[in-house]
Amino acid sequence: MRAVLVPVCLLLVSPISTTSWTSSSELVLNPKQMCKKARRSRSKMADICNNKPGLVQHVQSGVGLAQAECQYQFRHRRWNCTSAKKSIKKVMLRDTRETGFVNAIIAAGITYQVTRACTKGEQIGCSCDKSRNKRKNKKKKTMNVPEGDWAWDGCGENIEYGIKRSKDFLDTRYKKKSDMKTLVKLHNYVAGRLAIKNYMHKECKCHGLSGSCTLKTCMRKMPSFREIGNRLKQRFDGAAKVIPGNDGKSFIPEGDTIKPPSKADLVYSEESSNFCNPNNTLGSFGTQGRVCNETSPGEDGCGILCCGRKSQSFTKVVQKNCQCEFHFCCDVKCKVCNETVRYSVCQ
Ligand SMILES: *[C@@H]1O[C@H](CO)[C@@H](O)[C@H](O)[C@H]1NC(C)=O
Ligand SMILES: *[C@@H]1O[C@H](CO)[C@@H](O)[C@H](O)[C@H]1NC(C)=O
Ligand SMILES: *[C@@H]1O[C@H](CO)[C@@H](O)[C@H](O)[C@H]1NC(C)=O
Ligand SMILES: *[C@@H]1O[C@H](CO)[C@@H](O)[C@H](O)[C@H]1NC(C)=O
Repeated sequence: MRAVLVPVCLLLVSPISTTSWTSSSELVLNPKQMCKKARRSRSKMADICNNKPGLVQHVQSGVGLAQAECQYQFRHRRWNCTSAKKSIKKVMLRDTRETGFVNAIIAAGITYQVTRACTKGEQIGCSCDKSRNKRKNKKKKTMNVPEGDWAWDGCGENIEYGIKRSKDFLDTRYKKKSDMKTLVKLHNYVAGRLAIKNYMHKECKCHGLSGSCTLKTCMRKMPSFREIGNRLKQRFDGAAKVIPGNDGKSFIPEGDTIKPPSKADLVYSEESSNFCNPNNTLGSFGTQGRVCNETSPGEDGCGILCCGRKSQSFTKVVQKNCQCEFHFCCDVKCKVCNETVRYSVCQ
């Protein structure tokens, strides 16, 4: 039971749960609380907690990043990745598609922030990635390359270090376990990291006189975290349900016609609840009171979000800038107008 609960600690959020996107970055884990549990063990995590406080800060910020992105990606869904402990705790104890997404994005968030910190030169026991530099420069001894050609910048993003630390933190304590939930979790951690690693791109800068580009250097960069979130959301939509394999150490897709999931796919072993009605056991708050869109055919549409129940229409007055005038030079003056907006709420 204890081992299952550890990942939940990663998501320990401030007890005052706020639902505003902008303040969701406050909802980060408490590294002290998380480390308190690991401190006395002999795990890699304990080593990090005891000896690398700088790294713990970046892990913390990675979880915060993951959580904010989860809330963005799920903002229109019935379960909206709420930070309320009553809900997220229950969801993380299961093995549904939602569980898989959250695990993947946390692994990605930690990888991302640790890698970024590395690139920025923070002292957390790493340096930037010089491997490509060596390879390319073997052929070309000089950084001065003819136009159209380029050299690796001395400093690429050290994704391997980020991945390693993310593993130390998340995966290592499951080393001796091979039950279904653990296998699924470890798979989804990998999928989360691959959503970064498989999409590194080359970014180049021109140097030289007035953009002449006589010297061009390139480095490997990570995609933005929004891109990573979008990709993982697609994987969530296409996640594969799996069942235990015969050897007891692996899983196979449920149904023979389904192709085996790749390392980058998300997997799950339990069906999600529909999150339509409140249910404490499942961590569902239901969708009563949620704002929905009368005309949308998608998951934010009242039909889907309200689970077939009625929705009620309200109006509110919002203030907007209007009748803006341009004054020479260079000033724009606006009036403040009241505008009535309609919106619908699930009953
Ligand atoms: C998320 O869902 C909860 C419970 O259904 C709701 O109280 C909250 O307002 C929602 N958050 C957003 C940003 O819609
Ligand atoms: C909550 O969900 C569980 C599991 O699906 C179910 O057994 C239980 O009856 C539900 N409780 C309510 C109040 O609907
Ligand atoms: C509601 O959905 C429609 C159709 O998808 C979209 O055009 C519109 O912008 C949405 N309204 C809001 C307030 O999001
Ligand atoms: C807009 O509404 C506010 C109250 O919400 C009111 O005090 C103000 O006079 C209104 N302005 C206009 C231009 O109607």
